[in-house]
Amino acid sequence: MNSPFDIDYKVALVTGANRGIGRTIVETFLERGVRKVYLGLRNLESVADLEQQYADRVTPIHIDLSRPSTIISAAANAQDVDIVINNAGILKNASPLQPESIDALETQMDINVAGLLRMAQAFAPVLKANGGGAFVQLNSIASLRSFPAFATYAASKAAAYSITQALRHEMAEQNTVVLSVHPGPIATDMANNAGLSDIAEPPGLVAEGIIEALKKGECHLFPDTMARELWQEYESFARKVIEIEAGTA
Ligand SMILES: NC(=O)c1ccc[n+]([C@@H]2O[C@H](COP(=O)([O-])OP(=O)(O)OC[C@H]3O[C@@H](n4cnc5c(N)ncnc54)[C@H](OP(=O)(O)O)[C@@H]3O)[C@@H](O)[C@H]2O)c1
Repeated sequence: MNSPFDIDYKVALVTGANRGIGRTIVETFLERGVRKVYLGLRNLESVADLEQQYADRVTPIHIDLSRPSTIISAAANAQDVDIVINNAGILKNASPLQPESIDALETQMDINVAGLLRMAQAFAPVLKANGGGAFVQLNSIASLRSFPAFATYAASKAAAYSITQALRHEMAEQNTVVLSVHPGPIATDMANNAGLSDIAEPPGLVAEGIIEALKKGECHLFPDTMARELWQEYESFARKVIEIEAGTA
């Protein structure tokens, strides 16, 4: 378990804040008591409506997970952050028997895995300086089981989950809680493009789930129907093997 963490009156930063799950996290956090959200974006023009609605409670900030310099300069400019939500990610369809899968793997490893490392490296000192805070990583049910059409995405999300586990131990030393989030199909562009819109559930489940999981001191969140079914089978292993006290590994 983690220490319980309440988002009330905290300052958050969300990558991929302009659409999909990231945007819903921004809106939900602002409605549920977060003081301010830095909107991590590739295109600073993409959130005019959020700026209009929330005024000085949102601050757009340039973050491209594939460009380390943008992450370093975001961390230098967002020194008051208490919660980092590394939400941005990409999915490329590629079966493992297609030659394109090699390029797809490399691109997804860069954004979904190296991007996570870059975010953690840049923001760990900021969270530490602010008393510890929380680092939330958007992984997937695909971190635990592969799907042929998304084999390289699943490989990148498995790697990101592995890194998340290590970060939980490392960052416990500075009092930062780390939460690994594992949605099934969620109604966004990503799920649409993957042909999963028929079974996708609302992104609010992820956003509300993160708030509750942080409050309860959970290390894992499986927020929707398909994810919860997987968690039923996985929970015993996770509790005994993965969720051992942070810092003891
Ligand atoms: N939707 C699902 O079914 C599902 C299920 C499990 C896990 N997840 C995970 O949840 C997270 C959010 O997914 P989503 O469904 O909301 O995806 P989405 O609708 O495709 O949105 C992706 C977001 O990531 C941003 N992004 C893409 N590449 C980036 C980069 N290089 N640097 C910074 N930002 C970048 C996009 O910004 P632009 O607008 O600039 O492209 C966009 O804001 C991802 O990590 C995904 O793997 C999603």
